[in-house]
Amino acid sequence: MSVILGIETTCDETAVAIVKNGIYTISQCTISQIKTHAIYGGVIPEIASRQHLQLLPASLNEALVKSNITPEEIDAIAVATEPGLVPALNVGISFASGVAMALGKKLVPVNHLHAHVWANFMNNDELIELKNIGAALCLLVSGGHTQLLEISFNQGLNINIIGETQDDAVGEAYDKIAKLLSLPYPGGPQIEKIAIEGDSSIYKFPRPMLWEDNNDFSFSGLKSHVARLVLSMKDIDQKTKANIARCFQDAVLDVLTTKVINYGVKNGYKKIYLAGGVACNNALRNSMREKCTLHSIDLKYPPISLCTDNAEMIAGLGGMIFDVNLPK
Ligand code: KG4
Ligand code: ZN
Repeated sequence: MSVILGIETTCDETAVAIVKNGIYTISQCTISQIKTHAIYGGVIPEIASRQHLQLLPASLNEALVKSNITPEEIDAIAVATEPGLVPALNVGISFASGVAMALGKKLVPVNHLHAHVWANFMNNDELIELKNIGAALCLLVSGGHTQLLEISFNQGLNINIIGETQDDAVGEAYDKIAKLLSLPYPGGPQIEKIAIEGDSSIYKFPRPMLWEDNNDFSFSGLKSHVARLVLSMKDIDQKTKANIARCFQDAVLDVLTTKVINYGVKNGYKKIYLAGGVACNNALRNSMREKCTLHSIDLKYPPISLCTDNAEMIAGLGGMIFDVNLPK
């Protein structure tokens, strides 16, 4: 029965949250730095770390005030320690260490990717479901990572990497194509938005590694293919941008959904979770849902606010780690 304060500073969100028993959000404060980084077309680690330093005290204060919990009632401080932008991580880790020391509480290091997976178990009964079925698949798609995972819960969250990208992450490819098309940062949501108006029959982009007999992915060849096309064009109007976005997204989703579903069906999985920032994408959600329904596989994903970087998933997973390590 833990009350955990979680701190997230892996990239461009400064976030603090208080979570009960590893699952229930009591309060949270997320301050996005998107506006600051948008003018550079991507996250500048040095600027991100300075902003974390400035924003963390106010975020902590807001999370505490909203929670009606006194600092003494907090059992431990959880902090994202890896992977992420090193200068940004260092600020969060130093701040969390200071808070833990000042309050005389334990510091719980949390893996950022594992926390993205854990976001599926926040504010619901999904963990009981996972325990009942034994094992499930999780497709983790973020700005820095793309992994197919087998997950289970036995005195802790067990994660087994089944396959992963050999080069670019899906979110990274979305962001790079968006930049080529002069769309604002972050590019993923922008590509999704304009792709809705695009015609899927205009370009036939490559589907890298689609029929290879493995569970890995590759997106840099697709990105270069699209880049060559864009750079060969003089003026690109809105319709052409929409067509490129649509055909790029179709290629990405074709590879992702086909490989994940094939592996799931072949190995008898009954449940697939999505995680990470790209799991916000409705085209991915819909296309996965269609294929899962066809094979009687249950599909789950977190709400949008828990797909992108947030402190609730850090405090949540930190709470679970804290609870399972309590002396019995
Ligand atoms: O998980 P996340 O917030 O940060 C990392 O841990 O990387 O993911 C951020 C990534 C960015 O690349 C962003 O463009 C992408 O998620 N993203 C999306 C969408 N929303 C966020 N990509 C495609 N469609 C979206 N709707
Ligand atoms: Zn993330």
